[in-house]
Amino acid sequence: MTANDYMQREDRYGAHNYHPLPVVLEKGEGVFVWDVDGKKYFDFLSAYSAVNQGHCHPKIINAMTEQAKILTLTSRAFYNNVLGEFEEYVTKYFGYDKVLPMNTGAEADETAIKLCRKWAYTKKGITENQAKIIVCEGNFHGRTTTIVSFSTDPTAKEGFGPFTPGFVTIPYNDLAALEKALEDPNVAGFLVEPIQGEAGVYVPDEGYLKKAAEMCKAKNVLFIADEVQTGIARTGKMLACDHENVHPDILILGKAISGGAMPVSAVLADDDIMLCIKPGEHGSTFGGNPVAAKVAIAALEVIKEEKLTENAERLGKIFRDEMKKIKSDRVEIVRGKGLLNAVVIKPLEGKTAWDVCLALRDNGLLAKPTHDHIIRFAPPLVITEKQLMDAVEIIKKTILDMDK
Ligand SMILES: Cc1ncc(COP(=O)(O)O)c(C=O)c1O
Repeated sequence: MTANDYMQREDRYGAHNYHPLPVVLEKGEGVFVWDVDGKKYFDFLSAYSAVNQGHCHPKIINAMTEQAKILTLTSRAFYNNVLGEFEEYVTKYFGYDKVLPMNTGAEADETAIKLCRKWAYTKKGITENQAKIIVCEGNFHGRTTTIVSFSTDPTAKEGFGPFTPGFVTIPYNDLAALEKALEDPNVAGFLVEPIQGEAGVYVPDEGYLKKAAEMCKAKNVLFIADEVQTGIARTGKMLACDHENVHPDILILGKAISGGAMPVSAVLADDDIMLCIKPGEHGSTFGGNPVAAKVAIAALEVIKEEKLTENAERLGKIFRDEMKKIKSDRVEIVRGKGLLNAVVIKPLEGKTAWDVCLALRDNGLLAKPTHDHIIRFAPPLVITEKQLMDAVEIIKKTILDMDK
């Protein structure tokens, strides 16, 4: 089969809910992926920051295959001998009393919303069905019906109503708007991405998260951080909230908690909050399965063993500096933190960010536009300085060649 055959088959039999870049991958190792014709590429998307530890990290794959031979799934109807090991490891790792394991990021966000509402009724004393959660314009928390209910992206939302009530939208990075919204005594939580990833890597002003967390605390409102994309070393700290020494009341993790090996997500909170959910009130057949537990421990160990946080911090600075040196009108803005970066592309001579990504692909680097004009650059965090500079050369050459 040719690359075209593979693409046509997906197109013929798969739902058209994505618009992939035309490249068909069959193998991955570290920062590289290979297509079905054997061509090698730098992966500068990392499956939307899930593959922070690099493709097919041997330690993670080993943990996965070893556990898969012994026991894969018990459901939570019974105890198993591995889940507790993960629970102890992850809670100590991030400094919380308890964890609630799920599978996808969206499920973890849903979990956090339910947990916040339960806390609102059982602890804060809000009248049943009146709890509100503040969210931000431009948010991305996943694709479930409740989550798209408070999306401000028409593509994500339109045609999927009726929507779940109970959300109040304020502009991102706007403390005055938050202060005003917090005046409502029915507000139970503030759900926020420390950097808005899908929106196009919007980094809030320094001090925003810290002040927002303080304001929430003063009003007995839970500060809920969605670190599904920003967490696990991506932005140069273990959590993006760590840049401002903020310890969220509820922490939402996904993606790289498994190193991209399988869907694993987690919600962390202290007992006062987490124990508001009682047996039978929430769960998932696959959440906390033994393979996921072993994979997540290995993935989190890799982050520390290979000092990926430090690597992301150091190489991220180099990357942004290099991008800013590109002398092209096409490069409008360079922004980001650690190895979560974006370049805003000005459309010129009818060529958009999509065309830049096609040319990057031809030159051996894969990235994907978000919102038409923004290219996110987020390589696996195991990337070396030499590899990063090789990738930088590809990006520079691609953009300058387009200007010719
Ligand atoms: C901040 C954030 N939250 C939640 C999600 C949803 O995760 P998933 O696609 O695993 O449901 C994403 C996915 O990109 C995300 O970036």
